[in-house]
Amino acid sequence: MDVPFNVSLDLKTGEMKPEGIMVVRRLSQMRGAFQDHDAAERMVAESDPVIYRVYNVVVPEESGQLQFCTSIIYPGRVGDEYFMTKGHFHQKIETAEVYLTLQGQGLLLMQSDDGRVATLDMFPGSTSYIPPRWAHRSINVGSVPLVLYAVYPGDAGHNYGIIEEKGFSKIVVAGPCGPVVMNNPRYSG
Ligand SMILES: [Fe+2]
Repeated sequence: MDVPFNVSLDLKTGEMKPEGIMVVRRLSQMRGAFQDHDAAERMVAESDPVIYRVYNVVVPEESGQLQFCTSIIYPGRVGDEYFMTKGHFHQKIETAEVYLTLQGQGLLLMQSDDGRVATLDMFPGSTSYIPPRWAHRSINVGSVPLVLYAVYPGDAGHNYGIIEEKGFSKIVVAGPCGPVVMNNPRYSG
């Protein structure tokens, strides 16, 4: 991209115009990400809900460029687990990212490639730094859509495979007094 441009971002809904490439993730595309497979299959059969959507502005995947997008994670649960993104490392693992939360309440679950885990609260105005080599997943622990704006290097890319295969070592479930971070009983790291 060598010409300056604007997009119009709705700070409440996260919608961007022009909308660029919109990714819609339904439960059927990530049923294995949740612990309760029976609950996931029931929900897929009933309505196959949209878990989240991403508005990607089209920018070349090149060093020196900056990608930016919004993600909207809807409220809901599969069993005891909150709706969440698939989670990924960057393909070019030495690249960082910044998340600015615009709406909602979330937890940003991160895991480094040497096994460390961190969580950060996401709330309107929270600006979270995801260092290089940390996988990241956004989890909606509230009752309204969680809307975040992200900026990351143009050539970072996405590596979903490691998380699809192994998961994160922690999961976030609804407890009697709110979200609880627990060990993932299925973690295969
Ligand atoms: Fe990322």
